[in-house]
Amino acid sequence: MTMDAMSRRYLMCRPTYFAVEYAINPWMDPSAPVDADLAVRQWDALRGIYLDLGHTVEEIDPLPGLPDMVFAANGATVIDGKVLAVQFRDPQRADEAPAYAHWFERAGFDVHEAKHVNEGEGDMLLVGDMLLAGTGFRTITAAHDRAQEIFGRPTVTLRLVDPRFYHLDTALCVLDEHTVAYLPEAFSPGSQAVLRRLFPDAILASAADAEVLGLNAVSDGRHVVLPVQATGLAAALRDRGYDTIGVDLSELRKAGGGPKCCTLEVRS
Ligand code: ARG
Repeated sequence: MTMDAMSRRYLMCRPTYFAVEYAINPWMDPSAPVDADLAVRQWDALRGIYLDLGHTVEEIDPLPGLPDMVFAANGATVIDGKVLAVQFRDPQRADEAPAYAHWFERAGFDVHEAKHVNEGEGDMLLVGDMLLAGTGFRTITAAHDRAQEIFGRPTVTLRLVDPRFYHLDTALCVLDEHTVAYLPEAFSPGSQAVLRRLFPDAILASAADAEVLGLNAVSDGRHVVLPVQATGLAAALRDRGYDTIGVDLSELRKAGGGPKCCTLEVRS
């Protein structure tokens, strides 16, 4: 196994307007208090970790009235400098889609329109040359076909079955070009069989680790940034030779998001 860290380019969105004002997943309770200042400090700590690891972090301006815009992973899928724009399932997030598409247009990327409900890297994860594509709650399979046409990467549909793990990136984490970690019971029986076939050496996460959004982690191939509460998963990762870096995103978790949700990888 190669444990070489690759320097990455990430796009993030400061949670200036973060709040839990509606409920579009089971984590969200608009009546529960959220410490908005703490959310910003926690997000800043995540950004600082990436900078310390030598990654590049770019920022998109947050927009008032879009409290979930901090979850940049949902803003696009970007491979080989090509951008597949997004279309949200829920109207509350709809206006984030053009904001992200314009950011990429202004940055000179080739942007392809979404055409179907497709929540970006929340549901589309590149592992080596293959694109793993989640469905069941948000992104629909027509968007998987479109991603395959645009990116020319074999695209494998995976069906999510537990509403707490509504995006693929809450149930599965890409660790390097050949390795993933995932929560088996978050997937349909057929998709579990596909994952076993594709990744016989995968790290299987426990429910306890998934329930703190432990799988919503970001790996550069060697360092894995994950929720500090996911102690079992962190130990399993260290056993396999990864360096783990815990981060506390307790406030953003109240919206159902963790480190990966806040991080969109820009692959030029
Ligand atoms: N509240 C957001 C939603 O339900 C959270 C998005 C988390 N993003 C992610 N990539 N899993 O849409």
